[in-house]
Order: sequence, then C-alpha cells, then structure tokens
Amino acid sequence: MGIITVTGGNKLSGELNVHGAKNSALPILAATVLIKGETVIHNCPKLSDINAAINILRHLGCIVKRDGHTITVNSKNITESFIPDSLMREMRSSIIFLGALIARTGNAKLSSPGGCELGPRPIDIHIAALKNLGVDITEEGGLLNCKVKNKLKGKIINFPVPSVGATENALIAATVAEGKTVIHNAAREPEISDLANFLRMAGAKITGENIGIIEVEGVKRLNSLEHRVISDRIEAATYMSCAAATGGEIYLKKINPDFLLPVIEVFNKSGCEIVTGVNGLWLKAPKQIKSVETVKTYYYPGFPTDAAPTTLAMLLKSNGATVFVENIFQNRYKYVDELKRFGANISVEGKVAIVFGKEKLYGAKVECTDLRGGAATVVAALSSVGTSFINKIYHIDRGYENLVENLKNLGADISRK
Ligand code: EPZ
Repeated sequence: MGIITVTGGNKLSGELNVHGAKNSALPILAATVLIKGETVIHNCPKLSDINAAINILRHLGCIVKRDGHTITVNSKNITESFIPDSLMREMRSSIIFLGALIARTGNAKLSSPGGCELGPRPIDIHIAALKNLGVDITEEGGLLNCKVKNKLKGKIINFPVPSVGATENALIAATVAEGKTVIHNAAREPEISDLANFLRMAGAKITGENIGIIEVEGVKRLNSLEHRVISDRIEAATYMSCAAATGGEIYLKKINPDFLLPVIEVFNKSGCEIVTGVNGLWLKAPKQIKSVETVKTYYYPGFPTDAAPTTLAMLLKSNGATVFVENIFQNRYKYVDELKRFGANISVEGKVAIVFGKEKLYGAKVECTDLRGGAATVVAALSSVGTSFINKIYHIDRGYENLVENLKNLGADISRK
C-alpha cells in the first residue's frame, strides 16, 4: 500500500523537469485504436493510469511496448470490442476508449464507469454525441452496448457543458465519420489541442479546437505517426504549490506557461514572484503567502479544478481568508477533512470552501481521498511543524511520476515505503 513520510519546514529550491500530461497521453493512447499500424508516443508519464490504458489496449489486441517515456502501440489487429469491468474500474476515464473502439470496429461493449471519489461522473454527453453520429447505444445492467447502425455520419453536435472526455470521444469518432461534424461548446483544454494535433498528424481534417467549435471532415483512415505529448500543467501547478507553501524558489522546465495563466494569476496575487519563459517557469515564494480573496474553478481557460486542492493547501498558512468556489465536481472537497488534521481552518458549504490562514500547521496522520486531494496533503505536510504520515498513496501514483524523489531533490525531508 505504501506510506509517504514528511517532516515539514524545509524550503524547496532547485529545478525540475515537468513530465508529459496524463490527461493528454490517455486520449491519445485511446485514439491509437483507430490507427491500423504502429504509432509511437513520446513523453508519456509513468503512472498507474497510463498502465491501465496499456492494459486495455492489450486486451483489445494491440501490441504495446514501453521504453522509458516512449510507448509504441501496434493496432494492426483489434480482436476484441468488449472491455470488462475489471479493466474499466482500473481507471475512471476508460470511457475515452469508446469513440475509438466504435469507429474502428463498429461495436463496443463496456461497463458504464459509474462514479469516482469526485462524485458522480455522468456520461450522458458522451452517449448523446455518439448517438448523434449514428451509434445505437443501449444500457442494460450497467453495461453499454454500442453498435454503429450502418456508418458513422458527420453531424452538428451541441454540448450542454464543455466536457473534456465527451469532446475527446466525439472528436476521435468524427475523424472517420462520413461527411462533416461540428462540435459546438467543445472543451478547449490544451490536452484537447494536443489530441487534435495528434489526429491531424495522422491525417484527420480538424479545425477550431482552440475556439471550442471543432469542425471535422471525415477521412477514410488514419495513418501511423510519432507524437510527443505536451507537458502536464497540473503537475506543474502542484510543484508551484509545494514551493509556495515552503517559502521556496523553484525553476520548472519543459512546461508551457501559457497553459497556466489563471494559476499564475492566483500565485502572483498570493505574493509569489513568477518569471515565465518559452518552456519554463521560475517561482520565488514570499516569506508568508497572502490570501487571494476568491478562486473559482471553471472550464478551460478558467482556473483548473485539478489545481484547486493543492492551491488551497498552499493557502492554509496565508495571512487571511480565501474563498474557493468549485464549479466542476460535486465532491471535490473530500480531502478537506484530511487537511483539518494538520490544524487547518477551513469551512465547506456546498461548492464553497473558505480557507482561514493559520500561523502554524502540525504534522498529522492522514490519507489520500483522491489524486489531487492526496497531493494537497503532501503540500500541507511540507509546510507543517513535525512529521506527517500519508496513507493510500496509490491515489497519488495515478497522476504523479516520482513525486517523492522529485521533492527530495528539491530539499524536502520526505520518503516513502
Ligand atoms: C477530465 O475529466 C480530466 N480527466 C479530469 O482530470 C478533469 O478534472 C476534468 O476533465 C475537468 O477538467 C482526464 O482528462 C482523464 P468532464 P472528465 O467530462 O472528462 C460533467 C485528474 O485529476 N459531465 O470535463 O471526466 C461532469 O459531471 C482528473 O487528472 C456531464 O454532466 O471531465 C463534470 O461536472 C480528475 N456529463 C463536468 O461535466 C457527461 O457526459 C466536467 O467533466 C460528462 C461530463
């Protein structure tokens, strides 16, 4: 199971290479199902979610090889269109295999992903989009049975909310649908642009992903290619919080700061000095972090929900109160009770959490409630007096490669066993 032990108080300093983005690598790996041949993907992080995606690809008949951060997928023979519950449960976002599998085989059968630590994770927008493209989808006993009636046909699709996963499923399926598809109110995250670039390099005809109105002209097939995944903006925001919470100074390399504009704005307000370069970001924290009034999460380019827990943790010792408003997930605040064990003063009411800065935090025994909530407990432990023990760290392994080693290299007194 593993426990992370942290003795707080050390200022973090040094430099760090940001890894490839989990939430870009996952849809790109799913999209390889649509490419009859060998695809090479560089800069894939070593994470349990990526391993889960590899397991699904192999189950479907793909030959997958991993060499460091490079994953090679040969999808010449897809022999399966059923993804069993055991594989679906390994990673909540396995639903992003749906579009590619249907487009490749004309069929797909998988269990509906259900909820996760963040609350219900509905897939109604995914289903509506794929039905619109000509997929017959029935649900019985938690199993989704999908079948292309005769051919995927391009259509106009209007999303009620800019769902990242639904955008990915619709976009992937639309690349080989007959005719033109237009997706209105599509998600605009950098990871969507990365997927669109990947698909274009494979021969897809896609425009408009940066403005949230994606136009796709269907093509007959996609071709093999090599691609390098963009850097992980959420991992970068996490290390920014670790440095800010300890009065430290770090230089993050291989990160495009344009992906982090709303995060940089909040960190500037908190008193952090930030200098950005083409592919890097330098941050120097103040002795004491300032409260920042409000942080409202929203769809991109708003403040990312995944960066909120670690940003909230960084403000636990700020000089005032900060109001967080979570507009994306219902159960985002499950981790707050764990932060209170450090002595933090936070009050939660529905989608609002108010952080009242405290003079001191004290080491505690805590557990990770989810991926980003777990990272928030690490941030709090780094800035606490004394030693903390963090359990259920398998949540952290889903989204952070070598978190403990990286923090140790930056001067933290941290270990895992
Ligand atoms: C992606 O999840 C990310 N995961 C999440 O990161 C991220 O928090 C989320 O986007 C929002 O940015 C991956 O990319 C693998 P959504 P996704 O569909 O696609 C509602 C992490 O920590 N909705 O954009 O599942 C939904 O309930 C993870 O790395 C519907 O109502 O998120 C939510 O309120 C956590 N119906 C909102 O849309 C649907 O059919 C946004 O969800 C789909 C979504």
